[in-house]
Order: sequence, then structure tokens, then C-alpha cells
Amino acid sequence: MSKSFKTFLKHTAKDFHNHSVNPPVVRASTIIFKSMNDIRRTQAKNKRDPLGGHFDYGRQGTSTTHILSKILTRLEESYHVFLTPTGFGAVFLAIFSLVRPGDEILTADPVYNPTRMLTQDYLTDFGIKTIFYNPHDLSSIKKNISKKTKLIFVENPGSNTFEFQDLSKIISIAKKNKILTAIDNTWATPYFFKPIKLGFDMSIVSATKYYSGHSDVMGGSLAVNKKVFKQVEKAQKITGLRLGPDDAYLITRGLRTLDVRLDKHQENAKKVAAFLSKNKKVKLLYPYKKGSLNYKLWKKYYSGASGLMGLKIKTKNKKSVIKVVNSLKLFGYGYSWGGFESLALHQGKSERGNRKFLNLSKDERLVRLHIGLEDPNDLIADIKQALRHLK
Ligand SMILES: Cc1ncc(COP(=O)(O)O)c(C=O)c1O
Repeated sequence: MSKSFKTFLKHTAKDFHNHSVNPPVVRASTIIFKSMNDIRRTQAKNKRDPLGGHFDYGRQGTSTTHILSKILTRLEESYHVFLTPTGFGAVFLAIFSLVRPGDEILTADPVYNPTRMLTQDYLTDFGIKTIFYNPHDLSSIKKNISKKTKLIFVENPGSNTFEFQDLSKIISIAKKNKILTAIDNTWATPYFFKPIKLGFDMSIVSATKYYSGHSDVMGGSLAVNKKVFKQVEKAQKITGLRLGPDDAYLITRGLRTLDVRLDKHQENAKKVAAFLSKNKKVKLLYPYKKGSLNYKLWKKYYSGASGLMGLKIKTKNKKSVIKVVNSLKLFGYGYSWGGFESLALHQGKSERGNRKFLNLSKDERLVRLHIGLEDPNDLIADIKQALRHLK
């Protein structure tokens, strides 16, 4: 019987051996075999069937990480999902697997700032050059492609400013020029959008956010197609970037309710967006306004929207924006997002980085809100009282 993903999430990975609903945490460095022959047999099986979970040492994983990888592979509809200790570990592994000295990367200008720092600053020491492209101008991709371009790195929507890009057009430019593609899909997760199905070679999700859902664990996933599988497998072996079983257990537990939580984040975020869209001093950075370019590009590829949004606030009085943020009572101030709770952050230069195509005038400030699972009427009342401080 083919089950919908919602049903699959609730019923998969029961532990029939121990009669527990959730698979147990299996911790191991050393794995004991019956004999040397048994070790060799397992190694041979692993070579023949690298996705089968035939492990001879803890760094390859245990049944706990194997189960999580299988669940995510089904969600992504990918060839395989590699698990990493953090979401940024998955960004690093994606790039490290494919790019070599002398190569060039085309990266979306509004990427998560550590991704920008990795490509813009750190990789130059290894002879790898990065050119940032304008997310709303595909000609800035085309004109910067050279014989050395190895990878187009997309993040959709962009961190901070939430631009949506025309993804299938980017993929077809890449394919035409024999360039590989990766996307950071943390905002939507494959519940709302499946990048590998669309044609991306790799797709990254920070499992720290919606997958775990409770702001108490870190992890990352890197979904791949068959074409790049071997390169990533080799790079993961070399780097030792592996997720531990305790974190994998918590992420599997969180995934049981991924659909329920994301549907509710979306419902709450839409109510907050409806309220904010009436405020003339605030420009909402969220796919809400029908007819806008970002809305059209979101609708073209996504079946839903998560709880993370941005606000562009125009005022000469920067302090009053900080006062608005500091006056929120139900929103925590802190990094990350995707947990059950609402969060707020003023997005200064240290958060948004040294952007080339940042569409922000001198008097505009950026605020990011994560809309959690509280009662949306309480959140709206809280934002309303905080906005009174805007001058
Ligand atoms: C869009 C995006 N990608 C990747 C990451 C990195 O994930 P992690 O914090 O799990 O390393 C983050 C973290 O905030 C993020 O917002």
C-alpha cells in the first residue's frame, strides 16, 4: 500500500524487535563481529550496497542515523540523504565535495551569512573564486559563467530579504553549461518544496530548525541525486562530518510532527502577515501579496510557506526599530528558528553580511520574525503594542 507522507511519518521506523514505537538510540564506536570473516563480509556488502546500512565502525553511523536518513530520503524523493552534525556542516560538505582549486562558484547574493563568509572569504585561500549573482536578475548568472564555473549555489528564499528566484530557469542554465547545482532549502523543507525532483543535484536543510522543531538539537541533511552521490560519499568519509545517534533520535522524533507543525506555522504566519500588510510603515517580506514577483515565484514552486518572515521598516530613527523589537513580550531574541516558539531579531550588518545587491535604502531597517505555534491573536496583539514605539 502506498502511504501518503503524513501517514508514513507516523508509522515508519517502529522498532518491532524491542516493541517500541520509536527506534532506539544505538550508540557505537566499535561494532563487534563474530569473526574477521564476518567483518570482511560486511565490508563487501557495504561496497555492493552503500545505502544498505552495513556498518563496520561508528563513524559510518548506526541504525539510528540510518533510519533517519531513510525517512529523509523518502521525504526529499532523492537518491540519498547524508546527515551532518549541523546545517552548516551540510553546506560545507556540499561545496567541499564538488569544488576544487581553480574552480568558480556562483552564489545567490542573499545567502545565509556564514555561507557567504565561506565562499567569499575562506575558499579564496584555496584558489576558489566566488561571484555573487542578483537573485532577481538571471542575466547576472549568465554573464558570470566561465569555463571554470563548477557550482551554482542557491538559497531560496534569501536569508534576511526573502527574495524568491526562478528555480527551473537557474537549473536549465546550469544544465546547458554542465554546471552542478545546490540549494539551501531550510526555509521550506521538502514538505513544501522538493528540489531534487525539480532537478537540483543537491539540497541542504538545517535539521536544527523545523525537522527537530524544539530548539534543542543541531543537525543537517544533504540530499543528493545519483550523479553526485559518490563524490559526496567520499568527501563525507574524508571529513568525518557525521551526525551522532542521540541527535538523530531527537530529529526523528521531531519529524513525526513536521507536517502538523509546518501547517500550523503557515496558518499563524498568514494571520500575522495579514495584520502586518495593513501597516504602511512596514514592508512585509513574505510570499503574501498576490501579484508581486516574489509571490508569483513562490507559487510557481512551493505548496506552502513556513513561519519565517522579514519586515523592512522605513524610518530615520534606527533606535525606535530596536525599541519595537525590544518591546515584544512573546518573542524571544535569539538566533536560529524553526522551533515551536516565536523569535525576533534586528538584522544588522553582522547578520546580513557584506551584500552586493541589497535593496535597502539608508533609512530602511530589517527585522526578522519567526512565527511560532502560540495563539496567533496573542502574537498579533504583542506586535501591535510593540509597533507603537516606531517613530
Ligand atoms: C538558511 C540557513 N541555512 C543554514 C543554516 C545553518 O544551520 P545550523 O545552524 O544548523 O548550522 C542556517 C542557520 O540559521 C540557516 O538559517
